[in-house]
Amino acid sequence: MPDRAYVIDRMISAKEIAARVEALAREITATFAGTDRLIVVGLLRGSFIFIADLVREIDLPVEVDFLEASSYGSGTVSSREVRILKDLRGEIAGRDVLVVEDIVDTGFTLSHVLRLLKSREPRRLMTCALLDKPSRREVEIKADWTGFVIPDEFVVGYGIDFAQRNRNLPYIGKVRFTEG
Ligand code: IMP
Ligand code: MG
Repeated sequence: MPDRAYVIDRMISAKEIAARVEALAREITATFAGTDRLIVVGLLRGSFIFIADLVREIDLPVEVDFLEASSYGSGTVSSREVRILKDLRGEIAGRDVLVVEDIVDTGFTLSHVLRLLKSREPRRLMTCALLDKPSRREVEIKADWTGFVIPDEFVVGYGIDFAQRNRNLPYIGKVRFTEG
């Protein structure tokens, strides 16, 4: 539980998110057109709502799998160490893989996960991130698709948490501390 009082200022509305998700899915569908080998890999836990909305707009046969990597502890500061807490259930060799991430921040998580998945020799390996904070980047990496580029703010909602809270907000908002 967060130990400082804060409020959440609205940043991206549910309606804006839905429109952007639809557009991303249309591009993803076009890029992977004709495949029957697509597997969408959600990075837990932050991507769970995004991936649920995204796959429902992808007009292709699709499988879904999940992978959990640790980056943040319970605070708002990123750690460089990335550990795999839960691996995929299925094989991805020879498959078309789309990795879905909530936020690319320093880039450590996504680059680590991509290196791991690449070693398993998928046919194609592409990435879709809902949010991108390019000003925070420490590892050179860019998702193939990005929903929204945002400034260096700590955000919550639409699956994204602050110390495990606020994932259930239907919109994306920024955390503003009100004391301390
Ligand atoms: P990176 O390894 O620094 O790129 O961190 C990526 C992960 O940090 C994301 O998948 C999020 O889980 C978490 N993260 C980064 N920025 C935020 C934020 O503003 N709010 C909540 N989680 C964040
Ligand atoms: Mg994450």
